[in-house]
Amino acid sequence: MSKQTILVTGGAGYIGSHACVELLQAGFNVVVVDNFSNSKPESLVRVQKITGQSPTLYQADIRDKQALSDIFAKENIDAVIHFAGLKAVGESCQQPLNYYHNNVYGTLVLLEAMEEANVKQLIFSSSATVYGESTCNQYAEDFALGAINPYGRSKQMIEDILRDVSAADKINQSTSPWKIVLLRYFNPIGAHESGMIGEDPNGIPNNLLPYVSQVAIGKLAQLSVWGNDYPTRDGTGVRDYIHVVDLVKGHIKAIAALKGEQFKTGACKAYNLGTGTGYSVLEIINTFEKVTGRPVNYKIAPRRAGDLAECFANPALALAELHWRAEKNLDDMLADAWRWQSNNPQGYE
Ligand code: NAD
Ligand code: UD1
Repeated sequence: MSKQTILVTGGAGYIGSHACVELLQAGFNVVVVDNFSNSKPESLVRVQKITGQSPTLYQADIRDKQALSDIFAKENIDAVIHFAGLKAVGESCQQPLNYYHNNVYGTLVLLEAMEEANVKQLIFSSSATVYGESTCNQYAEDFALGAINPYGRSKQMIEDILRDVSAADKINQSTSPWKIVLLRYFNPIGAHESGMIGEDPNGIPNNLLPYVSQVAIGKLAQLSVWGNDYPTRDGTGVRDYIHVVDLVKGHIKAIAALKGEQFKTGACKAYNLGTGTGYSVLEIINTFEKVTGRPVNYKIAPRRAGDLAECFANPALALAELHWRAEKNLDDMLADAWRWQSNNPQGYE
């Protein structure tokens, strides 16, 4: 069988670069489109160093329809993994138009280019942030959606668009229907075990793990633990942290599933990608200190607006239908995050 070619939008980013490594190592051809708005070309140089293979790179914005059409005309694309987008919750509240333009409009342009090229297999990076607040902390795919900020709403809108696009196939009795997987990520952390690629946030990180790593290496003075009065086992927030390599392997399983019975006549299906286990902020700090031998200076601070007490995945559907489950444990995630941080104190610079 000839190699499948996957177009990876946002392939130079944190998750995208790890996806490139796993796709190349699994025998796919990889084509990347990225505008480097939140990444550096160096990440793809590192992908080449790890795998001995290079993805084909197009520096372009997914909102540039002509650029996308040219890529589809030139490359023999079988499926698209769509990571490109803006992802900072706080920034999305300050710049909602920028977020909707980049994420929602960018996806529309991509879908039009795909439809014109008759490439109708798509894996989309959604987020657990699309779920509304629930009385149950373990989220399953059929829970009500109700994102609470512009970033989350951009993901929810894209999910709605993709469900509509798939539903239209049934009405139009399309002979080449869309096959779409929505992957709702919980909290991706960690890095490739080589320590050569990892998360390289701009400025002061918002997310817990990059913050902890930068305190441990001395770039930041002190971590604020946002609240210790939540109804959780130690009062701090509980999340489902998942190793980024496990996460991207879920995408490869999703590509395989598109060939299966459930997608035969077209479908748009959502799956959680999480471990099913939650850890508190204090558990993360304690385990990080144990695994790395580095102290993490922290203080207890007031709650952060918009945070939930506890949120973790029910990953049963991904196991049943994608045959995927997370394999790495918290020690692996934190050791790998630290290897990346300590080998690259200035990120890719
Ligand atoms: P990232 O910022 O590291 O990667 C996104 C990549 O997309 C970057 O390389 C950026 O330059 C590129 N990009 C952005 N807008 C673009 C555009 N208009 N045209 C071309 N390229 C563009 O982010 P990430 O952490 O790798 O996240 C990847 C995807 O997963 C995003 O869609 C994000 O919303 C989603 N997601 C991430 C997390 C997380 O915690 N990291 C959680 C849930 C969902
Ligand atoms: C955040 C986003 C969410 C996004 C996700 C993945 C918010 C409100 N939510 O989720 O939309 O999908 O990142 O990128 O921003 N914490 C601290 N101190 C810190 C940072 C975090 O105590 O400096 C705590 C938080 O209160 C939370 C946990 O650590 O309990 C994890 O935080 P974070 O990494 O930001 O992820 P989420 O809040 O789950």
